Amino acid sequence: MPDFQAILDQIHKTLTTMPDKGTVASYIPELADVNANHFGMHLRLHDGTEYGVGDYNQLFSIQSVSKVLALSKAMSLVGESIWERMDVEPSGNPFNHLSLLEIENGIPRNPLINSGAIVIADILLSHLKNPKDDFLDFIRDLAGDDTIQFNKSVAHSEKITGFKNYAIANLLKSFGNLKNPVEDVLDFYFHQCSIEMTCSQLTKVFFFLANKGNCLMNKARLTKTQAKRINAIMLTCGFYDEAGEFAFEVGLPGKSGVGGGIIALLPDHFAITTWSPGLNKKGNSQLGMLALEQFTTQTKLSIF
Ligand code: DON
Repeated sequence: MPDFQAILDQIHKTLTTMPDKGTVASYIPELADVNANHFGMHLRLHDGTEYGVGDYNQLFSIQSVSKVLALSKAMSLVGESIWERMDVEPSGNPFNHLSLLEIENGIPRNPLINSGAIVIADILLSHLKNPKDDFLDFIRDLAGDDTIQFNKSVAHSEKITGFKNYAIANLLKSFGNLKNPVEDVLDFYFHQCSIEMTCSQLTKVFFFLANKGNCLMNKARLTKTQAKRINAIMLTCGFYDEAGEFAFEVGLPGKSGVGGGIIALLPDHFAITTWSPGLNKKGNSQLGMLALEQFTTQTKLSIF
């Protein structure tokens, strides 16, 4: 068994001295104001053993990492019918790309780009009684932690700067692929992006995808097949136009967010979260990608 704490400590030491930490997202003040020097990692093994280094207990904006959780909730509610409204192919494009959606008649390439996530938000709106509260409860239950919250100020900033997301939602609506009003769907989407968690909370939340759909309390939240499908989508689509690079360098299903978080997992072995707010040119955490590459290289633990 590798010495996990020593490996995390060494990665932390190497990466935090790197001069180029990427660039913090600047489209909203709440993200622009985050210090680029933060760095945290948290690992949870299947047997419950946990390891952490750096700022792993500090809250950050999970942003697009929430897309996997929204997809999971939607899958638990409507199952395979999701795929009547979107595809499961990598887009090879940035997260908020628009033109492909028009060419492909309002059918998003996958649920982890914005267009797909907006359709998922629409599905949740149609099937949940109190969509925002129920979604938060779903996440709190996965983590066994009821302190997890939306950040209202982030949700508001997303709304007033979200012109591209409005364009995507309107395009989806024009093709008949949104059932609810654009405003309501985007309000939900902006709130899901605003959720804040620490690395250690995220690692706990994502345990169910490393555990055949069963959460920390060993209760089924998805079927084994559904968990397998979501992991496949994370591997092929979790990093937008850098999904190939992540599979090549890291070799794990994972998902990034513009807040600088990355969650990755090895089914039946572990879930791991990294947080470093500086992003690379493709909008994924620069040091987070490097940290996970070093982690899977040093532990020799990946799906390949
Ligand atoms: O849709 C947006 O612009 C953001 N709220 C989410 C972006 C995001 O995290 C993309 N990912 N890496």
